[in-house]
Amino acid sequence: MQGQGILAGVKNTVAVASGKGGVGKSTVAVNLAVSTALKGYKVGLIDADIYGPSIPLMLGINEKPQIYQSTDSNKMVPLENYGVKLMSIGFLIDDDNPVIWRGPMASGAIKQFMTDVEWGELDYLFFDMPPGTGDIQLTLVQSIPLTGSVLVTTPQPVSLIDAQKGLKMFHRVNVPVCGIIENMSYFIAPDTGNRYEIFGHGGGEQLASKLDTEFLGGIPIDPRIREGGDTGRPIVISHPESEESKIITGITETLLSSLEKLKNSNSSPDIEIDLNG
Ligand SMILES: Nc1ncnc2c1ncn2[C@@H]1O[C@H](COP(=O)(O)OP(=O)(O)OP(=O)(O)O)[C@@H](O)[C@H]1O
Ligand SMILES: [Mg+2]
Repeated sequence: MQGQGILAGVKNTVAVASGKGGVGKSTVAVNLAVSTALKGYKVGLIDADIYGPSIPLMLGINEKPQIYQSTDSNKMVPLENYGVKLMSIGFLIDDDNPVIWRGPMASGAIKQFMTDVEWGELDYLFFDMPPGTGDIQLTLVQSIPLTGSVLVTTPQPVSLIDAQKGLKMFHRVNVPVCGIIENMSYFIAPDTGNRYEIFGHGGGEQLASKLDTEFLGGIPIDPRIREGGDTGRPIVISHPESEESKIITGITETLLSSLEKLKNSNSSPDIEIDLNG
């Protein structure tokens, strides 16, 4: 990408991040990736969450990737479902033994995903980032040549404060933030149709305007979104006609056009990537 040599066949790379954990970042990353693939694009997803790699489960993938010896190194073939090619930190570790990751180790693993995986040609490569804005996250975002990023937050202050830190982290490393996605924005009771704003209202939108970034949209709480994660059938696949899927598709379109604008304005950052460092 951008003449870096690594990810040479990848046109756009996007980090899906959040300050706070548990806001639905992985769920959103999976649905964004799948809905991008449904539009006919070639899509990859890297699960970079060292604390809890959950994408294989959410994407319904339960094998491990094949490794083969090429002329000069070992190459991995990404696994694929719903048109999305996946590599996950989860493939490198065994479920029962927790790993204590340090920054260099985590970025080493992600660099391997960028150099030793047969991605082929991709229009979009999404990264599900680990929650938080500490040293490890900073090391990771510096290791990836990113076209842009999106921040996922829930509407309440504890999450918004952390999302703001996330935005600052990306600014520090010159990665443009394409916008904010508010997850768990509201709940529509299926029996009465009443709307409940469980985590408050409008926080994501206010934060976007305060931070001068785009509000990409709000995704409601819906049991089918949770089930989609647990059963490996994202809602955009299991219920493509649902209101939620239409919202996610709309957010995807806004995100893709925002990335397109970034490229045209030529403001993609010139990041120094040191693959040996
Ligand atoms: N809009 C939603 N409606 C219903 N359930 C949701 C929604 N978004 C996420 N969930 C559920 O909330 C839980 C947490 O979501 P998820 O694992 O995507 O969060 P995360 O931010 O990636 O968490 P972590 O920080 O641990 O990586 C999951 O069980 C998921 O299915
Ligand atoms: Mg996650």
